[in-house]
This record gives sequence, C-alpha cells and structure tokens, in this order.
Amino acid sequence: MIDLTLTNARLMDGSVVELHVDGGRFVSGGEPRRTIDVEGRLVTPPLVDCHLHLDASLTVGRPRFNESGTLIEGIHVWGELKPSLTEQDVFDRAAEIVRWSAAQGTLFIRAHADVSGENEAMVRGLLRVRDELAELCTIQVTAFPQDGIYAREGDEERLENAIRLGVDCVGGIPHYEPTSELGLKEVHRVFELAKQHHRRIDVHCDETDDPASRFLEVMADDTVKHGLAGRVTASHCTAMGSYEPYYSSKLRGFLKRAGINVVVNPYANSLIQGRLDPYPKRRGFAQLKELLAEGVNVSLGNDVIMDPWYSLGKADLVDAAHLALHFTYMSGREEIAEMLRCATERGARTLALEDEYGIEEGKPADCVVFDAPDALEVIRLRATRRWVIRRGRVIAETTPAETRLDGRRVTFTSN
Ligand code: FE2
Repeated sequence: MIDLTLTNARLMDGSVVELHVDGGRFVSGGEPRRTIDVEGRLVTPPLVDCHLHLDASLTVGRPRFNESGTLIEGIHVWGELKPSLTEQDVFDRAAEIVRWSAAQGTLFIRAHADVSGENEAMVRGLLRVRDELAELCTIQVTAFPQDGIYAREGDEERLENAIRLGVDCVGGIPHYEPTSELGLKEVHRVFELAKQHHRRIDVHCDETDDPASRFLEVMADDTVKHGLAGRVTASHCTAMGSYEPYYSSKLRGFLKRAGINVVVNPYANSLIQGRLDPYPKRRGFAQLKELLAEGVNVSLGNDVIMDPWYSLGKADLVDAAHLALHFTYMSGREEIAEMLRCATERGARTLALEDEYGIEEGKPADCVVFDAPDALEVIRLRATRRWVIRRGRVIAETTPAETRLDGRRVTFTSN
C-alpha cells in the first residue's frame, strides 16, 4: 500500500496522469490508502517566492503610514520602527506570512533580513522562522544591509556578523551607498564575503529609475571572475526599465554569459518606480520578457506585504504573476505559461533547489492543485489552490467560492 494517489492530474505540458506518493516522495505506483480525483485540474510543483522582506511584513502603520508612497519615506518609516523590534515580534509576524504563503501553495521562500543598525532581532527572528518552520516551508535567509554598508560606522562588520549567525545568502544595496564608488566597493565586498563564507549572493541591484545606476554589469563581471554562475541573484533591477536599447542588449548578453538570476518584484516596483516622473511616466520594471528571450533565468517575489512600502498584499504569488504579466506585456499564450513557470520552476532554479523540487519519481512530494485546467486560467482567475501537498501530506485545502446571480450559478468560465 502507498499513501496517496492523485488521479486525472493535468501537468503543464497538458498530459493527464496519475501521481503516486509514498513516504513523502513521488513513487512509480501502488495501491493507495487514499485517492483524490483532481478531475483534470492543473498540478504544478509549488510556487517559489524568491524575494520577501518577512521581517517587515505586517508592520503597516507602525509607527506611522508611508503617506508619500516613495521608497525613501518607506525606508525612513522602517528606520524609525526597527530599533524597537524584538526577535519574538519578528518571528510571530514572519511565521504568520509563511502560513499565508503555504496555504496558497508557496512552499519555498527566500527572505531578506535587514542587518543594518545595531538591532539583530530581524536576522535572529528570521533564522528561527527558517529552522522552526522547515517542515511546512523551505526558507532561505539573506542578510540584507538596507542602509548600505559604508554609510554608517559598523554596518560592514554587522553584515559579516550576520553571515556568521548562519544566513544562506549575502545581500547588498549598491545604488543606495553614498557614492557610486562606494557602491562599486560594496558589490566587490559582497562577492568576497560570499566566496569566503561559501554563501550564495542576492543583491538588491539598481532599484531606482536612474539610468546611470549600472551595478548589474559589475555583478555580472564579478560572477564570471569568481566562477559563481548559478549562485548569484540580482533583485529588482528596475533601472533596466530606463536603459537605452544599445546598453540594454549588451547588458542582457553579459547577464546570460554570467549565469545570473534576476528577480522581479511587481508590487512595490509598480507603485514606486516612475512615481516622480511627469507624464509620460516610466514603468520601472526589469526587462523580464527580453531577459527570458536572451536565456536569462527570471523569477518572481512578493517582496512587500503590509509593510512601510506597501500596505496591501496577501502573500499570493499568482497575484504577483498576474501583475507582472501586465507590466511586462507577457500576454501571449505561451508567455502566460512562461509567467507561471517564473512563479514556480524558474524560482526553484534561482534558489538552486532543483534536487528537491519537481514532480518526478524520487523527489519530495510537494505540489499544488489549482482549481483551473491550465496556466492561462490559473493566472486569469488567480485560481483557488484546491489542495496543497507538502512532503506527501495534504496541508491545505480550499473550497472555491460559489457565486449565484438570481439563483443561477456564475462560474466566470466560458463553459
Ligand atoms: Fe526588496
């Protein structure tokens, strides 16, 4: 006897199969103790949230709201709050967002812990979340120096200290350093630290509308020089939305050659970038569609959930994919499927999870059953996650809402 069989499971390639699970892994077959007929619904490996500031989630309004909506006011509000945060407060809020995420099919998260300033509560709280919630969700923690490492005495040492505490990735924010020379120095320092401590790299890079912000090319060069292809991620990269065509195409080639992953965070960047422009306003997104065409791996993050930068959000990565699709013109049928891959398997590549990710015999039985038959319908409807399975166990089940108009059911589908 095996633990579970899903019958009539539709995969991304359109095939309909039976999926068998035993001992927490996908297996080839057997007599199941439990069967779920998923009736032709789409089954994918889990959603992967590649970028989430879990230490700031659910703090919206503390100590005040970001009324201007700018990145800078958000950083100031956060700067006022963070000295008073405790490890337990960070843990409780972050754990709640991990529960929201898992309930909606996100079972892998890369979180960012702010390590600027004296308070270690953010990194300690998120390391506890990573370790204590590992059964529910696989979490990687990045040490993220929100205020840079050269603007204030001691912040460079604090970044290194966070690495010693056990984070998975070294972060940076070169465009936020006081000068571009210090930004360059920061990128090189992040690579040195990552190499020295055998960690991955995930840098907030060129998160600005300034077309002169060009630290991504430095990251590409350092990735090649240090031989770190596949272990380096550049997040946000919104200045790409303002680069002119010649430089853009040269840069995309560099990124491809370096094997850098790019993470797009549609929520904050759709509200923050271009905000100060007169009309016409820029979109301020990384060149997602063009990067994919070049062969660069791109994935998605929620980034901000009810925090000083964004008062909305509910940890739904399909919602993020829906928004990214609009801002990057990814509306062709195959492009829509690719956008769902950016939220799933491409995210797994960014986090270098391939050994434990995917619907394949022998791999951990993690998957999501959407209440829709294909990627287009998943994103159009932002479909209910009917069942979420983690290590072979159904951990979340959602009953789709039912709408009736004058007593007759409305399905919002064409059939
Ligand atoms: Fe971010």
